[in-house]
Amino acid sequence: GETITVADLAQKMSLKGGEVVKALFKMGVMATITQSIDHDTAALVTEELGHNVVRADAADVENVLLAHVENLDAEKVVRPPVVTIMGHVDHGKTSLLDYIRRTKIATGEAGGITQHIGAYHVETDKGVISFLDTPGHAAFSSMRARGAKLTDIVVLVVAADDGVKPQTIEAVQHARAAGVPLIVAINKVDKPSADPLRVKNELLEQQVVAEEFGGETQFVELSAKTGQNIDGLLDAISLQAEFLELRAVADGRANGVVIESALDKGRGPVATVLVQQGELKKGDYLVCGVQYGRVRALFDETGSQVESAGPSIPVQVLGLSGVPDAGDDFVVVEDERLAKDVAEQRDAQRRESRLVAQGGNRMEDIMAQL
Ligand code: GTP
Ligand code: MG
Repeated sequence: GETITVADLAQKMSLKGGEVVKALFKMGVMATITQSIDHDTAALVTEELGHNVVRADAADVENVLLAHVENLDAEKVVRPPVVTIMGHVDHGKTSLLDYIRRTKIATGEAGGITQHIGAYHVETDKGVISFLDTPGHAAFSSMRARGAKLTDIVVLVVAADDGVKPQTIEAVQHARAAGVPLIVAINKVDKPSADPLRVKNELLEQQVVAEEFGGETQFVELSAKTGQNIDGLLDAISLQAEFLELRAVADGRANGVVIESALDKGRGPVATVLVQQGELKKGDYLVCGVQYGRVRALFDETGSQVESAGPSIPVQVLGLSGVPDAGDDFVVVEDERLAKDVAEQRDAQRRESRLVAQGGNRMEDIMAQL
């Protein structure tokens, strides 16, 4: 387990090293200032000296997690790009993904409207690509913002017969805010009313400039219905991915982000996570936002059980203590106790800051009434 030197412990309590040595001696523990004592002894002597035992302060906890996450010495290898499909409602985002996956999701959705972030990884001729589908409906702005943050590349789908619309512009802004490069997919070019040039001109007004206009943004004209030039889009994605030199540590403890989550009647809390570093395995202990747990099972996007998932791969996790929030991070830690401690401490902090925030609001209300 963990240890701490007597000197460090004394410093945390703003005491002299000798005072801690003396307290330890009274407890029957012989230790010098430079010696290390184990966690339980440290906790006992801390209480003995009238201090509260907190396993680690917030900064320490997050540092422990960061150390897991960064793995700075570990070798990094090429990882698949994470691509988010964004665009105005009904411009064909899900259909485009369907075609790439050759399945039929859009037709199976309630009213054909995507209401959540779907996550898939596909094997293409150009290698593995992970896709996040986002809803175009105006109500789902926060999901789009989250998608843009998680991603390496945004594919902006614009219907050639409809042009740039409010959620097209919103997607451009999300990508820009997240510092993520855009590829524009001008979709529905099979329609007689398609006008790709109009789309390019309208995007020019948003400072999204096609290469043929002297800009840096790749534009691909395609049809998710006929499949025309979908290969061109996959080429554009691999080119952009190569340029970004995407790398990650592939082995060791995993960390990543929650894409979506739900409470399933039979299976309990279910979180779809995107692994960003390391390998997430069945049996791993993890902290996930303010939740924790042991990975009971992992499922890929087709519902098949998998033993593990590496960088850029989305996977469903079962075994968490509760439902985490989308956007929460997850980190695999060495044991359940650490996972629980970190989660509980984060939870306490969240409550505290919420109380402060609520207090603030109340104060504002009072001020407003005066
Ligand atoms: P939201 O998720 O609700 O934002 O919509 P979406 O962007 O995912 O659009 P979706 O893929 O559900 O497609 C909307 C409609 O456009 C469906 O009726 C599709 O069949 C149709 N559609 C999509 N792509 C094409 C295309 O390339 N050509 C034609 N003709 N129709 C298309
Ligand atoms: Mg959709």
